Amino acid sequence: MNHGIFEKNSLILLIGILIVVSIGGIVQIAPLFMLSSTIEKVEGMRPYSPLEQAGRDIYVREGCYNCHSQMIRSLRDEVERYGHYSLAAESMYDHPFQWSSKRTGPDLARIGGKYSDAWHTDHMRAPKSVVPASIMPAYSWLETTPLDYTNIQDKLKTLQFIGVPYTDEMIAKAAADIEAQIAPDTPAAKELLARYPKAQVRKFDGQSPGEGVKPTELDALIAYLQMLGTLVDFTKFDASGPNLR
Ligand code: HEC
Repeated sequence: MNHGIFEKNSLILLIGILIVVSIGGIVQIAPLFMLSSTIEKVEGMRPYSPLEQAGRDIYVREGCYNCHSQMIRSLRDEVERYGHYSLAAESMYDHPFQWSSKRTGPDLARIGGKYSDAWHTDHMRAPKSVVPASIMPAYSWLETTPLDYTNIQDKLKTLQFIGVPYTDEMIAKAAADIEAQIAPDTPAAKELLARYPKAQVRKFDGQSPGEGVKPTELDALIAYLQMLGTLVDFTKFDASGPNLR
């Protein structure tokens, strides 16, 4: 029609390009300003317990995301292999999220409960001992390194500041909650469970629990792995929501 105007006048063409590009930009960027209404609320999601959060930080420190994604795409083969596709709400308390973009190893979004703690302990110590063909590196120092959680309160406070709904009580009890999560059947563990429903409480690294036992880095990492994908009840979700099965 009037396309000649654009083709003969570079300035008008430039302005036209800018308008079109900015429409595309707004469509992508504007929803991010309304994140709280963009992410559909899903029952069961809660902030990480302090031990899980500490484990997540080890996951980031060790660069596990370089080989593992935590994002199940809505493609049939992925859903059949890993389970229900990932929901936005599942990573809403992740800063930064661990979707990753490379899968040298399998996706870990639903790894929780797939293996025993003992399997994870062996696998971290020497991956080939449980998966003979594995090319995953060993992380054998984690089980002998005591977890440093001196700064856990500051960590939760920072997360609270950027929008993770940690309460002041959760922050005040953060260090106690780390110790409680590896001390089953104690009053402190009960309190932890009230604050973080579905938190799994036990000594994760296979060493014996007991009074005054301190958590190792492996405790934190396995607590984190065993929680991944277990908070949302997908049997309920599958029945009511869209799914590809
Ligand atoms: C160099 C790439 C690489 C890195 C880095 C890596 N992994 Fe792996 N991972 C693999 C591969 C390959 C497999 C599949 C073979 C196996 O099970 O060992 C795997 C498997 C796994 C599995 C079992 C998954 C399943 O469904 O069977 C877990 C759990 C796991 N890795 C956790 C981790 C954690 C935690 C870290 C960081 C501390 C990590 N990986 C770092 C490559 C990697």
